[in-house]
Amino acid sequence: MRNKLNDLEPKVWLKFQKSWFIHNPPPRRKGVLVHPAKFPETMAQEFIEFFTKKGETVLDPMAGTGSTLVAALRAGRHSYGIELNSKYAKIAKQIIKDERTALGETAEDLVSEIIKGDATHAIKFELPVINYILTSPPYWDMLHTKGAENQKKRRTSSELDVHYSDDPKDVGNIHNYEMFLEKLVSIYAGLKPLLHEKAYLTIIVKNIKKGGKIYPLAWDLARELGKVYTLKDEKIWCQDNQPLAPFGLGSAWVSNTFHHYCLQFRSD
Ligand SMILES: C[S@@+](CC[C@H](N)C(=O)[O-])C[C@H]1O[C@@H](n2cnc3c(N)ncnc32)[C@H](O)[C@@H]1O
Repeated sequence: MRNKLNDLEPKVWLKFQKSWFIHNPPPRRKGVLVHPAKFPETMAQEFIEFFTKKGETVLDPMAGTGSTLVAALRAGRHSYGIELNSKYAKIAKQIIKDERTALGETAEDLVSEIIKGDATHAIKFELPVINYILTSPPYWDMLHTKGAENQKKRRTSSELDVHYSDDPKDVGNIHNYEMFLEKLVSIYAGLKPLLHEKAYLTIIVKNIKKGGKIYPLAWDLARELGKVYTLKDEKIWCQDNQPLAPFGLGSAWVSNTFHHYCLQFRSD
């Protein structure tokens, strides 16, 4: 079988094709703890190894503390990350540097570059042709919501951020849902000229509960961005190690949402 997409054995390929998976993030390192929402490098590596071959190039337009780039290094891929917040960009650079040292000569020839900037202008950053995008946006303005469960713990610590920034260019600071969705779609759509033909884009996102209402961000994004790229499908990431909270106990249905959608698009 000629494999045009990746370097995986058929068995590993088949395993990845299941539409859901459980991945419990390992404990986070001190530096990345500052960032309120990151995805695990171990999970990112599985996506990168499925959607690219060794030596190809990965982009994360909202790189946070650089999980995608660390995963790309481990997988032997070149990578670029754009991050608006200079604090996270700096942490990402340090983490990438440490990872390169740990990997030694296997990473010597790999490019992994963090660009401090606004993903809106990605096209101006003179990036090479990109074979795959793996990213996760701010989950709307949820980090500003006082009741958000994980925020309660963070608020008591002066070292940990409760939201990304106050920068108006940070999409997590757009409080109108429709405007937020429109901006996010326009950022992702603006990346299309950078992509190789038939390149995939994976966006990790959640539907959002706010004020007793659901804002179906994952589904809205799938529908709207599906007008720009071909929507392939979703892979559902389940977390199975979170404590259950008794929301609505005895009166109403309020789920404990422990799953994210990994939406797959392709630039046909
Ligand atoms: C969910 S976090 C990404 C976390 C990342 N996947 C990780 O594992 O570290 C979203 C990131 O988007 C960044 N961001 C928000 N608006 C942006 C913009 N316009 N351009 C670039 N980055 C932006 C935020 O600062 C935040 O770090």
